[in-house]
Amino acid sequence: MRLSFWLFFGVIFVPFLFAQSTGFNYDEAKVPEYTLPDPLVLADGALVKTAKVWETKRRPEVLELFKREMYGRAPGKPANLKFLVFDENKVLKAKAVRKQVEVQFAGKADGPRMTLLIYLPAQVKGPVPTFLTLNFRGNHTVTDDPAIRLPHSWVRGRAKGEAVNNRATEKGRGVAKSRWNVTNILKRGYGLATIYYGDIDPDFDDDWKNGVHALYPKPKADEWGSIATWAWGLSRALDYFEIDKDIDHKRIAVMGHSRLGKTSLWAGAADQRFAMVISNNSGCGGAALSRRAFGETVKRINTSFPHWFNDNFLKYNDNEKACPVDQHMLVALVAPRPVYIASALGDQWADPMGEFLSGMHANPVYQLYGLKGLPASKQPAVDNPVMGTIGYHVRSGKHDVTDYDWEQYLNFADIHFKGKR
Ligand code: GCU
Repeated sequence: MRLSFWLFFGVIFVPFLFAQSTGFNYDEAKVPEYTLPDPLVLADGALVKTAKVWETKRRPEVLELFKREMYGRAPGKPANLKFLVFDENKVLKAKAVRKQVEVQFAGKADGPRMTLLIYLPAQVKGPVPTFLTLNFRGNHTVTDDPAIRLPHSWVRGRAKGEAVNNRATEKGRGVAKSRWNVTNILKRGYGLATIYYGDIDPDFDDDWKNGVHALYPKPKADEWGSIATWAWGLSRALDYFEIDKDIDHKRIAVMGHSRLGKTSLWAGAADQRFAMVISNNSGCGGAALSRRAFGETVKRINTSFPHWFNDNFLKYNDNEKACPVDQHMLVALVAPRPVYIASALGDQWADPMGEFLSGMHANPVYQLYGLKGLPASKQPAVDNPVMGTIGYHVRSGKHDVTDYDWEQYLNFADIHFKGKR
């Protein structure tokens, strides 16, 4: 009886456990050998030698590959896009101005729409350089401020009572404030603008009916997945900044964490109006090189989150080497604009080394512009940021956004937006 139980257990469960644990590699020695596609070699085999050829020939090729094979093509600015500023008030003892703007994608209050929450430092005269970010849990989770509107859209809810029947409740107010460092950002002379990402496209696979997808046909195999959709929403925020004289639309740093870090990278690649790009712990499908298959893999991400990328990307499950691009080329698409990649040592799932390497392998494109790119030939020590036109740090601690991360982003913005050294 006992023996047959263990035999049964062994046959049924052990291979399952084994298969699970062998699915993901965390051992540098077991990273497969790989050759990265060369960002500087054109489809016809010619070598790119100037910034001009990069911009007119190779960059469009690379961008097209990422659209077709991975993130998907997105539509342009909708014709009826409408902005409604429904709140503009001095807050934080008159040290800041808070604005809330409803962005109606079809120009209708009852259609798909997102709410932009903006804090601007009152002490800054003239248009303010601003960090634009998506948030995971609703604008009201970013600070304790009772005047921040609750999201109208589907909310997952993490803490108890944060959402009831997928609707946000008051319980969520301020729950994510440790990630936002609002007072410090304002003190340093920057604005912070944020949008709940679920306003643009709720983060579950619903066959493209909700969020802004309600306005468009179901995506084809080369069209927008959710990451491209969230990035599209960031571009709509930029459309608003272009008409708000308090915000410097030429100094917008798009920042995101994790899946929203993948999104900020894609937003900065697809829309060159973003002046700076920041990826916080973006990992697979973000800054990490796919070919290393370290931690999360393409197959795993496509399986757990089938809606994030387009259907063409499924071809690269367990077959990363067949992909005509890798993530260093995504970083290269940001050139010559500054880009910062941040890893966390406790976030091996996101492959800190792979995130560093994609920055380093984007260098040849920055060099075409006479820029240094990432000034490091090996991964810097923990908690030792390096900042060229590409910045990088691996912070101690876990997968998260911390004050330490923001400190580096503010220093990086000071260098590139304010000329401070
Ligand atoms: C999962 C996923 C990651 C993603 C992360 C997040 O861990 O596997 O790819 O970055 O969720 O967005 O929180």
